[in-house]
Amino acid sequence: MNSEHVIPDTILQILDSARWCPSPDNLQSWKFKIISETSFEIHCRDESDWMVYDLNGHVSWLTIGLLFETIDISAKQHGFNTRYEKRPNGDDQQLTIFLVTLTADEITSQHPLFNAIKTRSVQRKLMGSKPLSEREKLAFEQCLPTGFELTWFESSSEKKKIGKLLYGNSHTRYVMKEGYDVHSKIIDFRKGYETFSPTKIPPKSLGVDPITQALTKWAMKSWSRFHFVEKYLFGTVWAKFRLDYLTAIKCSGHFLLTKTETDKSLDDFIETGRVVMRLWLTAETLGLGCQPEYTPIMFAEFQREGINFSTDARALQNASTMDEQFKGLVGEEKVRTCAFLARIGRSSAPTSRSVRKELSDLLIG
Ligand SMILES: Cc1cc2nc3c(=O)[nH]c(=O)nc-3n(C[C@H](O)[C@H](O)[C@H](O)COP(=O)(O)O)c2cc1C
Repeated sequence: MNSEHVIPDTILQILDSARWCPSPDNLQSWKFKIISETSFEIHCRDESDWMVYDLNGHVSWLTIGLLFETIDISAKQHGFNTRYEKRPNGDDQQLTIFLVTLTADEITSQHPLFNAIKTRSVQRKLMGSKPLSEREKLAFEQCLPTGFELTWFESSSEKKKIGKLLYGNSHTRYVMKEGYDVHSKIIDFRKGYETFSPTKIPPKSLGVDPITQALTKWAMKSWSRFHFVEKYLFGTVWAKFRLDYLTAIKCSGHFLLTKTETDKSLDDFIETGRVVMRLWLTAETLGLGCQPEYTPIMFAEFQREGINFSTDARALQNASTMDEQFKGLVGEEKVRTCAFLARIGRSSAPTSRSVRKELSDLLIG
């Protein structure tokens, strides 16, 4: 690629692919500002002011890494390299701004992960559990830079342990009002958005039957109703069994990504996020389904940092019990290095998924 100039159309094409980057609950907490023919800014907002799962902003930082990697892959596909520079954010503590500069690459070639950007989608349904082949595992290993490691949990007893852990973590999420305040906002129960939602999670992508969907919608109308159903009618037992325990069993296996040296800085999370994106896109190119299982990592971090994430004593007590289970699974000394957990399995593409905001809605002047 000899051209020194990036036609603005190219930036738009790069961003149009990049907007398919996944974000927690499809929040897409970013905006893009085109600065010149060769540069644009990314304005990333963390959700720490309302989302209990992002109290320390770390999941947002991790997601910036996923976005950087998606932008890089799209830029390379168009013959450009990227450079990122953090910019001042004024007084807004929840905002992180980066300047991205594009430079022409000497070699233009198809990026092997580019086509997976738009087709990749979280798979929350039960998956086929045929074990991964050595070739498939090698493809995942090849995504890792020095300092990262993958541990696989594939035996039936390991899958059951992870299922129990996820079931227990969901119990923490359902008993606390702080969890309800998030869940009641992120599922798109609006008419017409049950299968594809541009800003939230469509209910059909959760992988539960229509009756459970309808009951969930009804129960989520108010905290008092949800709390009553959860506490006195055991109304979340089926959801936890179906969405957490069974899915953990019905897959090929779970991978735990660990990072040996970790200082929990913004750069640290971004580096991890980049690896996560490569792993997820690699799963897609191999025709495998993938679902992040982030809550054990997040709650373990809250425990270590002494973050008081709920006013509900049951939630705090249960999170502490689950943390012990998590340590039992991965080992006491390894728990600090845990960066990401996900399940992988054999599946066809989801028939319901989150789609995205239009690029025009993500551009700022
Ligand atoms: C950092 C991160 C953590 C996530 N954690 C979970 C999770 O614990 N469980 C889950 O079902 N989905 C999880 N997701 C998936 C998102 O909800 C999903 O990617 C988003 O709604 C967009 O949908 P799509 O992947 O189908 O495009 C996570 C995504 C990201 C980026």
